[in-house]
Amino acid sequence: MITTVTLNAAIDKTYFMKRVEMGKVLRVPSVIADAGGKGINAARVLKLLGCDVTATGFLGGHNGRFIAAELDKHSIKNDFVQVEEESRLALTIIDESTGRSTELIEPGPRIMEEQIDAMKCKIAELAARSRIVTFNGSLPSGVPADLYADLIGIAKNEGAIVFLDASGEALKLAVHAQPDLIKPNEDEAAGLFGERVGADEEVNWTAKLAAVSRLGIGCVIVSLGAKGAAVLWDGAAYRVHVPVIKAVNPVGSGDSFVAGLAAGIADGRSPEECLKLAAAAGSANALNERAGYVRLDEVANLKQQVRIERV
Ligand SMILES: Nc1ncnc2c1ncn2[C@@H]1O[C@H](COP(=O)(O)OP(=O)(O)OP(=O)(O)O)[C@@H](O)[C@H]1O
Ligand SMILES: [Mg+2]
Repeated sequence: MITTVTLNAAIDKTYFMKRVEMGKVLRVPSVIADAGGKGINAARVLKLLGCDVTATGFLGGHNGRFIAAELDKHSIKNDFVQVEEESRLALTIIDESTGRSTELIEPGPRIMEEQIDAMKCKIAELAARSRIVTFNGSLPSGVPADLYADLIGIAKNEGAIVFLDASGEALKLAVHAQPDLIKPNEDEAAGLFGERVGADEEVNWTAKLAAVSRLGIGCVIVSLGAKGAAVLWDGAAYRVHVPVIKAVNPVGSGDSFVAGLAAGIADGRSPEECLKLAAAAGSANALNERAGYVRLDEVANLKQQVRIERV
């Protein structure tokens, strides 16, 4: 089994508007609402890829019930810690007249100490039954900044392979707990390395990845959107080249990349095969309007076109 952890789950709602004029009554002709948050996106893609997956994290209130119901609808096992306050709503408003999108993101529930303790027990319990545990996304308010480090330690102790897809301070503090794999994107990696890195400088990439890997992280991947990914995996450096596609919405492509990697590793495939599947899942996600959805035929087709180069 693969467990995905979303500590800051959300309803991802998108309004498609012909035109947005502030200060007016605006009628919304078309709405989509999905269960969201990075681990939930990854869980949806893992399910679509045919994996046995369980989603966990914190959920609260009506929004929390909507998220759980959505997961049930997709037959995704879910086992969340309940909290008192409402899970957040992340609203994207797309103005079709300008092509601009505006995001309104609620703060989400405040997490209490006993709920953090409950989460530690939940992670131990799920990790003991999981081959892979993946921690995805931001931390909710009220939790210590180093919570990921604690949870990673607990999951590793139970024998699970641990992935971390986080950013900022949460990522910086968590790498010291030695997750088995991290996958920042280019901006998140710049934050972790403490400087911007030139994506074209292969030598530079490998050196940067090696510095992080020396902390005791076997697989360090920086995803680079349309430019693919730079990878250092068990001492071997790779560059992943993805085909040129007509991207519709790349939000969730990183989550889909993580899902592809987990699916490949759980299936015992080689690093090259895992990276191909991951990149294909990331690119397939970008072909769709919704975050964390892929079509299997598109994944299979893109996988044929992804090229893995040893560098
Ligand atoms: N425009 C694109 N064209 C082709 N492939 C893409 C494109 N955008 C993303 N991908 C694929 O998805 C992977 C992850 O993308 P990216 O680096 O944008 O993730 P991210 O910023 O972490 O996304 P998110 O956090 O929203 O899920 C890339 O490595 C690539 O395989
Ligand atoms: Mg990401």
